[in-house]
Amino acid sequence: MEKKNIDWSNLSFAYMKTDWRYVANYTKEAGKWDEGALVADDKIVMSEDAGVLQYAQTVFEGLKAYTTVDGRIVTFRPDLNGERLRSSAIRLEIPPLSVEQFVDSIEKVVAANAAWVPPYGTGASLYIRPYMFGISPVIGVKPADDYQYRAFTTPVGPYFKGGAKPIYVRFSDYDRAAPHGTGHIKAGLNYAMSLKPIMDAHRQGFAENVYLDPATRTKIEETGGANIIFVDGDDHLVVPKSDSILPSITRRSLVYVAEHYLGMKVEEREVFADELRKGCFKEMGLCGTAAVISPVGKVNDNGKDIEIASGMEKMGPWMTKLRETLLGIQEGTVEAPEGWIHPIL
Ligand code: PLP
Ligand code: COI
Repeated sequence: MEKKNIDWSNLSFAYMKTDWRYVANYTKEAGKWDEGALVADDKIVMSEDAGVLQYAQTVFEGLKAYTTVDGRIVTFRPDLNGERLRSSAIRLEIPPLSVEQFVDSIEKVVAANAAWVPPYGTGASLYIRPYMFGISPVIGVKPADDYQYRAFTTPVGPYFKGGAKPIYVRFSDYDRAAPHGTGHIKAGLNYAMSLKPIMDAHRQGFAENVYLDPATRTKIEETGGANIIFVDGDDHLVVPKSDSILPSITRRSLVYVAEHYLGMKVEEREVFADELRKGCFKEMGLCGTAAVISPVGKVNDNGKDIEIASGMEKMGPWMTKLRETLLGIQEGTVEAPEGWIHPIL
């Protein structure tokens, strides 16, 4: 198969239309999802009154396909994305797709777009965006009757400019989630409300917002598009625990990597902003499918800078080891735990 003629090493995290996408439909009448198919058309025609357009009834996922060192194409733990999409869907009264059909859709859409999967060693990967939404009309506040599930792909480079260079973030004055709300699911509505805060942050020179817990505003939660991890003075990996953050698959994988590959002790617990202010953490990073691990060098705390010991010049040693081990597992240079690597081609 001939690869597309793309400058793979200089891709940013942006959408590029690829050849094929997977589409399945659910109707109330049929009471189930159809078997789905690959289609070439990237356009969607729907009612002006579709549930997604009126009441934001939509949930999504994000995962990547990689070319391994020996030239295979693989994805990383797609079953976990399938399970998370189910919990997101159930929370918004969208009929969930089976994990089997989800994984099948990923296999099909990646294989069909194999020419778009960046080659090994370019630092790029194929981002896969599965999503589902209410497609039939609603006018009173209620769930739609009919739904569509789609998965498209797009080749991407680093989420933050400069890749693994430390970034400068700020504590946000806005909340991302409500107590007992939807912070723990991957719903479009969580990202719509983050658009103003992220644009404000960018206008003021920050790469991202760190959100605090909405109930007390004393605990560190996550950023708009990634979980947060820390390394403390005892070389422990410290991971915020909260019911209102997204259960990141990258973070869960890094916890395992830290314990089983790097011999680190891991603390999953509430993390107070005061701990960061007091300098308890020598390294800080954002983690997620898109972000991989992006080191944080500085956090702006209402106008005052909190400097992280690892600094703004380069990624700290633990974040570097975590990142290299995880990428090595994904690209086949480090042996993967059973079941993590899902072969496609
Ligand atoms: N938190 C938020 C709000 C996200 O949007 C993402 C991205 O998916 C993550 C965390 C990271 O999750 P994952 O590692 O499963 O990609
Ligand atoms: C991902 O990491 O897959 C995400 O969905 C984050 C998104 C904000 C780009």
